[in-house]
Amino acid sequence: MPNIGRENRAAQDQLSAWGIASLTPTYPSPATLAAMSEFARTLIDWQSTHGRNDLPWQQNREPYYIWLSEIMLQQTQVDTVIPYYQRFLQRFPDVAALAGAPLDDVLALWSGLGYYARARNLHRAAQLVVSEYDGVFPREAAELVKLPGIGRSTAAAIASFCYGERVAILDGNVKRVLARHFGIDGFPGERAIEQRMWALAESLVPQQGADIYPQAIMDLGATLCTRSRPLCLHCPVHITCTARIEGRQGELPTAKPRKAVPQRENAMLVLRAGNRVLLEQRPASGIWGGLFSLPELAPDEDAGGLLQRRFGLSVTASAAALAPVRHSFTHFTLTIQPWLVVFEQMPTTLNEPTLAWAALDALDAVGLPAPIRRLLASLE
Ligand code: ADE
Repeated sequence: MPNIGRENRAAQDQLSAWGIASLTPTYPSPATLAAMSEFARTLIDWQSTHGRNDLPWQQNREPYYIWLSEIMLQQTQVDTVIPYYQRFLQRFPDVAALAGAPLDDVLALWSGLGYYARARNLHRAAQLVVSEYDGVFPREAAELVKLPGIGRSTAAAIASFCYGERVAILDGNVKRVLARHFGIDGFPGERAIEQRMWALAESLVPQQGADIYPQAIMDLGATLCTRSRPLCLHCPVHITCTARIEGRQGELPTAKPRKAVPQRENAMLVLRAGNRVLLEQRPASGIWGGLFSLPELAPDEDAGGLLQRRFGLSVTASAAALAPVRHSFTHFTLTIQPWLVVFEQMPTTLNEPTLAWAALDALDAVGLPAPIRRLLASLE
């Protein structure tokens, strides 16, 4: 369960100084949340002197400019966006110019920004603004959100920056700030957590300054309350920040839960004669494609079975189990059980084109997977 507003003394003191009801370990009441707009006021104050106020799209409240900037800023940092934004506006100075342009021209100007669905949606949205709204952007977030590429948070950013609508934003930066400040445990991508964050975000939108507050909280997240090494002592709300007080900045927001990694097991044969081992080149496709490895036992096969099946060798010598080797792939973890069989001499029957007897002291020149190289290096 997320835990918003944990008890902490400094936070309580500051909140009572602000005349805010105490935070309880459970979700605060609507009255408490309403009173929390003091949080927003503090951020707005900070924004005026420490926030970003001279970005190219902040020069006026033209919705076309704000919309374009907000779409470009999804998943992309301000410094990267600025030159793209400027080139884009030179080529498409208004929504009609964008709507009338071939998609290829739009994509060409987007080239390098990534996430190209954004450019396709942008173009489509421009055409809808022209065809459905007479070329004039809708004023309300509830209407803006119907346009392609404009989600709830982006719609709110546009409506609040352009028209001062009192609507909440909740992008990655804002989620981080809220999770830390209000001590919200749980992965913010999870539906229940996200819903609680939306409720909290809405309760924090101030009566006045609704056009500045979104910029303030985004700026705080981007410049001070950063993912790693947040600059807490510069933060205007550090006194009441749960994560700072409890030293949990590194834990909040909660990381995406890792899925259990599937475990696979196999067994391999280390066939040794003197200082040589038998290697086998793997098929070109699949894991370790084209590298040299050790012959792999079929499921439930023992070393003698493999020698008989693959090479027609009847071996009486017993195989010794070596220490298992673990290796992590992106989607699974492999545990290899190596079996050592020592021959007095290299059997001459082992002459398939994919097989090679390699000297243990000359393995540097052989393309081996790292765990197999480690395993062979551990042989005396
Ligand atoms: N990211 C998304 N919107 C932004 C904005 N208006 N300013 C800075 N970063 C942002």
